[in-house]
Amino acid sequence: MTDKATLTIGDKNYDLPILKGSTGPDVLDVRKLYGDSDHFTFDPGFTSTASCESKITYIDGDAGILLHRGYPIDQLAEKSSFLEVCHLLLNGELPTADEFTKFERNITYHTMLHAQFDSFFQGFRRDAHPMAVMTGAVGALSAFYSDSLNVDDPKQREISAHRLIAKMPTIAARAFQYSQGRPFVTPRNELSYSENFLRMCFSVPAEDWVPNPVLTRAMDRIFILHADHEQNASTSTVRLAGSSGAHPFACIAAGIACLWGPSHGGANQEALEMLEEIGTVDNIPAYVQGVKDRKYKLMGFGHRVYKNFDPRAKVMQKTCYEVLEQLGINDPLLQVAMELEKVALSDPFFIDRKLYPNIDFYSGITLRAMGFPKEMFTVLFALARTVGWISQWKEMFEDPTRKIGRPRQLYTGATQRDYVGVDKRG
Ligand code: SDX
Repeated sequence: MTDKATLTIGDKNYDLPILKGSTGPDVLDVRKLYGDSDHFTFDPGFTSTASCESKITYIDGDAGILLHRGYPIDQLAEKSSFLEVCHLLLNGELPTADEFTKFERNITYHTMLHAQFDSFFQGFRRDAHPMAVMTGAVGALSAFYSDSLNVDDPKQREISAHRLIAKMPTIAARAFQYSQGRPFVTPRNELSYSENFLRMCFSVPAEDWVPNPVLTRAMDRIFILHADHEQNASTSTVRLAGSSGAHPFACIAAGIACLWGPSHGGANQEALEMLEEIGTVDNIPAYVQGVKDRKYKLMGFGHRVYKNFDPRAKVMQKTCYEVLEQLGINDPLLQVAMELEKVALSDPFFIDRKLYPNIDFYSGITLRAMGFPKEMFTVLFALARTVGWISQWKEMFEDPTRKIGRPRQLYTGATQRDYVGVDKRG
């Protein structure tokens, strides 16, 4: 039996091939539908649309499963490192010891920024939101690294990918230090990726910076949790930008801009602000009632794909406990978050809508405890997601069937009419 669906429009039948993946839902191939039937499919928000074929990340939203190249996120978070996950996402396999040494060296030797790049930050007000700085700074990278913009050259594509993964921590740390009025800190080649980032964020000239292995491990794990997530809004933005042939720096800047939205990566800042607004456990019932009255959404809850626990949220919660314990912090907002989760998970309004905590629910408490202001939360998300974006961009670009993304529409505006002079307009 051939795998196909038949669509009947009027007295005509149209065969739609059914394509099968290695796992997950099959897809109806509608690429020829408009040419054959003069009909578009209609799916605003892409709730039922597969935009591409990919081998990078698989999510089973009902089972709460997230795999990167087949490896479960909880195993990677426990046993791997962010740089090893970067190699996995980019190249498809976990690296051998030699491959990792080479990869780590490539990244390490791209962490510095062009000396003139630092003056780029001076153009921003000190109180600029760091995500505004990131969007501008990453978009400007092509002005400083014009020797790796030829997307048709595999070597230049690889160098741009390495430059982006390597320089995002340096740019993010500069955005943070700039907002704090502190001097920039140069990366150190002897430090690991996450340790280097924390030092660039928190070291000051007045004293030696002392690394904290628990916080370094927590930072590295948080980066792993945020590395990639299938065809989410910002990744789809990067793919669409890349489909026009735009170079990676421009595409990643587009992804950063999309991630900033409160429904997406901006939710980690919003979730902490929500917990601050609730303030204490006894304010939870009134706040939850406001959610049920549709006054606002429960930030850090719900997901387009996960209709069960977000597996990342569980690891994030564990990391939150570890960091608070290590720092000896008893954050009252953690009690609010835990009670809010308990209330929401037992309330039919959330149960019926399959709303569970997502990755953004506990990340804010953790990052604030580590010393980051809430305005930096989405910057950290963007730093980690850069490897996912660039891996998806690379996969899209190397797809021989690649076409420029150009969706159509259901037009409900005015049909053709003739121009009317201003003297005849009523
Ligand atoms: C990320 O896509 C990804 O993979 C994203 C991400 C990644 O790693 O890239 O996982 C990162 O963006 C996580 C999500 C962070 N956003 C938030 O925490 C913001 C709060 N969440 C919502 O805005 C919402 O849940 C979304 C945007 C995340 C998902 O929205 P959907 O899938 O479009 O769901 P929906 O709007 O169709 O909601 C279904 C119902 C609606 O109620 P009804 O109209 O059917 O009665 O659930 C309600 C919604 O109003 N609902 C919520 C809610 N989320 C959905 N109600 C209260 N609080 C919420 N958080």
